[in-house]
Parts: sequence; C-alpha cells; structure tokens
Amino acid sequence: MVNNKTGQVVTTQMRLNSCRVENHLQPLKYGSGSMIALDTYFTSLSNGMPVDIKVQGPGAVKAFEEGKANYFMKRGQLNFSCATCHVAYAGKYLRAQIISPLLGQSAHYPTYRAAWGAVNTFEKRFQGCDKKVGAMPQKLESVNYRNLEYFMSYISNGIKINVPGYRP
Ligand code: HEC
Repeated sequence: MVNNKTGQVVTTQMRLNSCRVENHLQPLKYGSGSMIALDTYFTSLSNGMPVDIKVQGPGAVKAFEEGKANYFMKRGQLNFSCATCHVAYAGKYLRAQIISPLLGQSAHYPTYRAAWGAVNTFEKRFQGCDKKVGAMPQKLESVNYRNLEYFMSYISNGIKINVPGYRP
C-alpha cells in the first residue's frame, strides 16, 4: 500500500514494524530471520486470496511509475533491464534455469528456495538479479526496491497468494 501522507510505498515488513513499535516492541531488522518468519506467517494468512493492488492517489501513481521505469531501466555491466530477462527472455534457459515471467512472481513471496536452503523475500531476489548483471544491489526496503515491488505486485493482480512458495 501507499501512505497518502508520505506518498511512500509501505511494505508488509514496514507495516509489521510500525505495529510493533506502536505496541512498544522493538522493530525487527529487515532481512533478519525473525522478520522473514513473521512476514511469511502474516502473508500466508492471505493464501488463496487474489493479489489486489490499487494504484490510487498521486503518491501511488508516482511510486508505480517509478517502479515501472526501474523495471525497464538497463543497468549493470551486461546492460540488461529486469524486463530483458523476465519479459523478453521469459521461458528461455539461462545457465540451466528457466527464466520466469514477471506475471505471478510476487504471489509466492516470501518463498522457500532450495539454493538458499531457507525462506527469503522478493527483494532478496532483486539483489541477486542485480548482482547477476553486474549492477549494484540496493538496500532491502530502499525506495527503489519498494517501488519496484509495488509495480511488480500490481502486475500480478488477480493471481492467488500462495506463501511460502518453492523455487529451486
Ligand atoms: C540476466 C537475466 C536476468 C535479469 C536481467 C534479471 N533476472 Fe531475475 N532471475 C533471473 C533468473 C535466471 C532467475 C531464476 C529463475 C527464475 O525463477 O526466474 C531469476 C529470478 C528472479 C525472481 C524470482 C522469481 C520467482 O518466481 O520466484 C525475481 C523476483 C526476479 N528474478 C526479479 C528480478 C528483478 C526485479 C530484476 C531487475 C532488477 C531481475 N530479476 C533481473 C534472471 C534475470
């Protein structure tokens, strides 16, 4: 969702932390095991419900447009955008892995991934893909990653949430 006062995307993890702080608990560190576990449990409560992102109000439209621009922006030594692989090359092989299409990705995060041997987040994958093309990975919950997540989640509207998913 987007906070209308700040015009910023509020992710599940940010919302969970603000609830904790309102209730006099310590915020959890983004990317920490406890935060991922809490996010996974909380998101799994919506399993079976369709992703339903509404882009309403100037802050939301701006965040969406920035996320979209970021998705199509070429970056890194390979000069690839996210869309180069996940739209144009979706279904093709890259080093024995089939590249997934953007559509549907957000609905199964946090996901268990065999390569990690653990559950981790959507943004953790963004960092891995940024590294793959020789671009600088950004911080978890940075404005850019949150906007990217917002745009990508909107694309999965209508697809049922299924958390935690499984990926090789
Ligand atoms: C060089 C090609 C390439 C580029 C560019 C790339 N990715 Fe990926 N990405 C992959 C491959 C290969 C995988 C692993 C196979 C899969 O699940 O798609 C992957 C996996 C993912 C996944 C997990 C998909 C799932 O269903 O679990 C996400 C999310 C993702 N990428 C997001 C991004 C984002 C965001 C960007 C841009 C910052 C990006 N990728 C750029 C190749 C790429």
